[in-house]
Amino acid sequence: MLDRLDTTLRVRGGVRLEGSTSTHGAKNAALPIMAAALLAKGPVTLHRVPRITDVSVMWSLLESLGARLRYEGENTVTIDSSNVASFRAPYALVRKLAASFDVVGPLLGRFGRAEVALPGGCVLGTRATDLHEQAFIALGCDVRNQHGYLIAESKHARLHGADIEFRMPSVGATKNAMLAAVTANGTTTLRNVAMEPEVIDLANFLTAMGAKIAGLGTDTIVIDGVAELHGVEYEIIPDRIVTGTLLFCGVVTRGDVTIRRCVPAHVRSVLEKLTECGIEVTTGTDWIRVNAGAITGGTEILTAPYPGFPTDLQPQAVAFLCTAPGTSVVEESIFNARFSYVNELARMGADVRVSMESNTAVVKGVAQLSGAPVEAPDIRAGAALVVAGLAAHGETEIIGLEYIDRGYERLEEMLSDLGGQVQRSVGVTQLVEASGLFETTAYPRVSPASG
Ligand code: EPZ
Repeated sequence: MLDRLDTTLRVRGGVRLEGSTSTHGAKNAALPIMAAALLAKGPVTLHRVPRITDVSVMWSLLESLGARLRYEGENTVTIDSSNVASFRAPYALVRKLAASFDVVGPLLGRFGRAEVALPGGCVLGTRATDLHEQAFIALGCDVRNQHGYLIAESKHARLHGADIEFRMPSVGATKNAMLAAVTANGTTTLRNVAMEPEVIDLANFLTAMGAKIAGLGTDTIVIDGVAELHGVEYEIIPDRIVTGTLLFCGVVTRGDVTIRRCVPAHVRSVLEKLTECGIEVTTGTDWIRVNAGAITGGTEILTAPYPGFPTDLQPQAVAFLCTAPGTSVVEESIFNARFSYVNELARMGADVRVSMESNTAVVKGVAQLSGAPVEAPDIRAGAALVVAGLAAHGETEIIGLEYIDRGYERLEEMLSDLGGQVQRSVGVTQLVEASGLFETTAYPRVSPASG
């Protein structure tokens, strides 16, 4: 019998996308904001919380600490952390979601202590925590790693303010330092911080709860600690990575699509690259339209901290560039193992050469990709395989839908809004194999590492 039936995504290629769809709330803003609710003295109501697996893991983690959560509507969640009594986040949950580490800062702010399983590595490469630990120590904590857990404990009743300079702008460390500092005793200055929109959204949420934070949007943030933070109602920003993914889905089919309920400024670096490829881009206050009737060529991309080109759109960009005429070069500067999906693109006929020493992909556009059974190793690589499948001749069956569902709320519905023929199905290949009716050449399965 089959050990498990994969639910797969089946993508019909060759269909030109047109029309409009809307982006949902940002995964990478919702996760830290949910963690920040641990600091609220009263209930928190969040709007535009995407219904994705990563949110349900954070939900379970907060419940395991004693918080009470419930849906008030399709994407509205209330969080009551008045009964939170634990400061220990178990490995069983943290292993499923690196962003679980975002609870360290709030637990330190609330209890002066946190015991959180280390996120460890993931399929993208190492997920170090040295910058997080640098901040916790500066704010007055003893920090040690014990049996796979980070144990942080304040040496005084409350954390105290500090002047902290990061060697690089880390999204995670910036978030955790902010979350620990907002209720510290005194002023904290954070230098060389990440300026991603999701970090700004977290800071705006904390400010709405009564925190005092200045310098947002610059590389230096100044926080005046307050004694307590109150409950609040707040709307999460749109997901810029979902927005960019949908744009790449549209242009890879040479389509004409409009993405609504988004923030064009959050994907400016992406729009610039699409324009370089000859794509017509128009924007309004909360919408972007791309018309890819005549693509003139590829481009060069270097991923970088915001406002640079986002690493989370690197795989989707490479998938699109596989179909653009000429040669493109994509350099990944954030993660040291973010090209593993290229092997799957090659099985669809893509011509991509990856140099490990320079962490760079050289992409030669091909006339036609061909549909194939493929496997997604992580969230954004899964999205890249959807992009490629939309352009390919024939059908592409994508295993690893559980990764895509971690970051995209019903991606197949957004694509069907645009005329895409994308549907979930129980793995046909597995069913055929299980039936034993036909000899099938089972393609090599790579067991996907934990995301
Ligand atoms: C966030 O991860 C996002 N995740 C990632 O999105 C995104 O790719 C990344 O930022 C970069 O933009 C969430 O927000 C939940 P980092 P995070 O701290 O916080 C090194 C997705 O698909 N580093 O900026 O882990 C680290 O090893 C995900 O939605 C240290 O060396 O990003 C990595 O190479 C994938 N020491 C790089 O910095 C530290 O203490 C980026 O890490 C911390 C990080």
